[in-house]
Amino acid sequence: MNPRKRPEDLRSHRWLGVADMRSFGHRSRLRQIGYDADDWQGKPVIGIINTWSEINPCHAHLRARAENVKRGVLQAGGFPIELPAISLSETFVKPTTMMYRNFLAMETEELLRSHPIDGAVLMGGCDKTTPGLVMGAVSMGLPAIYIPAGPMLRGNWNGQYLGSGSDVWKYWTEKRAGNITEDDWDEIEGGIARSFGTCMVMGTAATMMAITEALGLSLPGASSIPAADSNHPRMCGQTGRRIVDMVWEDLTPAKILTPAAFDNAIKVHMAMGGSTNAIIHVVAMARRAGVPVDMERFDQLSRQIPVLANVRPSGKYLMEDFFYAGGLRALMQNLREKLDLNCLTVTGNTVAANIEGAKVHIPDVIHSLNDPVYAEGATAVLKGNLAPNGCVIKPAAADKRFLKHRGKAIAFEDYNHMMREIERDDLDVTPDHILVLKNAGPKGGPGMPEWGMLPIPKRLLGQGVRDMIRISDARMSGTSYGACILHVAPESFVGGPLAFVQTGDEIEIDVGKRSIHLHVSDTELARRKAAWKKPAPKYPRGYGALFSEHIGQADQGCDFDFLAPLGAIPEPEIH
Ligand code: FES
Repeated sequence: MNPRKRPEDLRSHRWLGVADMRSFGHRSRLRQIGYDADDWQGKPVIGIINTWSEINPCHAHLRARAENVKRGVLQAGGFPIELPAISLSETFVKPTTMMYRNFLAMETEELLRSHPIDGAVLMGGCDKTTPGLVMGAVSMGLPAIYIPAGPMLRGNWNGQYLGSGSDVWKYWTEKRAGNITEDDWDEIEGGIARSFGTCMVMGTAATMMAITEALGLSLPGASSIPAADSNHPRMCGQTGRRIVDMVWEDLTPAKILTPAAFDNAIKVHMAMGGSTNAIIHVVAMARRAGVPVDMERFDQLSRQIPVLANVRPSGKYLMEDFFYAGGLRALMQNLREKLDLNCLTVTGNTVAANIEGAKVHIPDVIHSLNDPVYAEGATAVLKGNLAPNGCVIKPAAADKRFLKHRGKAIAFEDYNHMMREIERDDLDVTPDHILVLKNAGPKGGPGMPEWGMLPIPKRLLGQGVRDMIRISDARMSGTSYGACILHVAPESFVGGPLAFVQTGDEIEIDVGKRSIHLHVSDTELARRKAAWKKPAPKYPRGYGALFSEHIGQADQGCDFDFLAPLGAIPEPEIH
């Protein structure tokens, strides 16, 4: 560990501690806000990057929680400054929050760089906020600690527990099939989201919050605490106290985010039965940290790590149950022989110390390595002539008969084409067909929307069909399920092989062999490629144009080409 910093070593000292005209200006303006020299003199300035907003129900409590953080910072002798950042409400932001993950990453990095900040508290949780905050903080490199918003309470309807997203898809399908009434649907709408906090199934939010804790960037156990539980504000106060010491210790993300830490995080992802979206985000976060992680690493580790968390959509329970069962510390305790216990974390201690004494209280919620929920991990990466750079499936959430399957394609050129066709009563489709959606990738969507769980065609719903193979270059919500093959790379919009699939082509999937093959000859594929016309970009100007120009492919983490490279950016000049 480095010797503790002195006050004159603080980054903020350049703004506040120098006897020149500019520092006079900074200090006089702090006095204008109502602060005194006692508030800042010789103290680390802690930037609280808060993604609260009135349009994000998952973060509705973060406005109040920031006050808990500030109390902790003040108790530990720091000077807290709250800096609002884009909220990225998964439900409301269109066309998709994935368009704005890198925006938040850029905003986080530049908020920290451009202000007199010595350490950061990152407050988020709703899907893209976690990777966005972490990517930006990692690139800036200041000591940083992440506060997960925590899952909302269980949903409730007619005495049944409802899970975010998962039960929406389920009951929407039943409504389309005529099995529930409008009144039922209205009651479900009123019961599915009972408190502030993130989706409470093992969706992208719960997965990314757990992954970030497993990386060592949160206090132990923080990611499992329900948003409405009083443990949550207490954890926020503890985080505020801890970040001040992290600044004095100069405990930066670079000291925490090692290859072993990323392996731990991927293993936890597998054991949680986590969202497929996490693959993209972890690859992007690792690249920011200079750690080479690719999709193959997920596949390798998925073969070694069974699913232990019995949480929807691939399991039975909800995140509230997971907390009562012992939470992430207990899961990591059950997984300890697979983890690198020597990894350093924000506590200044190792993973071993952080999970010491953790116990599983409800074994049916957190299983053991000897009695897993699924013997193999949550995610498989397939490759073949249809996806030369890979694609992803969540086998645990799919009907097992589709894990080895050959069928005829029904190809949709884009989302609108798909939505028109899917409702047709005369669509020529059987349960063995394979639905293919094009132009839904990083550039084609754009933003790789969560369209990957294509609806079951109406004609099959009436026959009781609830799963079939669907292939796309889109993503899928972590709350979704089914035999959905996602993230096909390269995407169709840039001329990946998916662009050349035609209705009637045969496609063969073998998850055991990790293969995906389009049974069309190379000659015929070359002919189709020669006749293919690149679609026009959707955005002539603005952020959408910048996004389309610079976004990378799914297997590379979908970062911007100008944000991903390593290398120091000069500190801002103060004059
Ligand atoms: Fe925010 Fe699901 S909508 S986490």
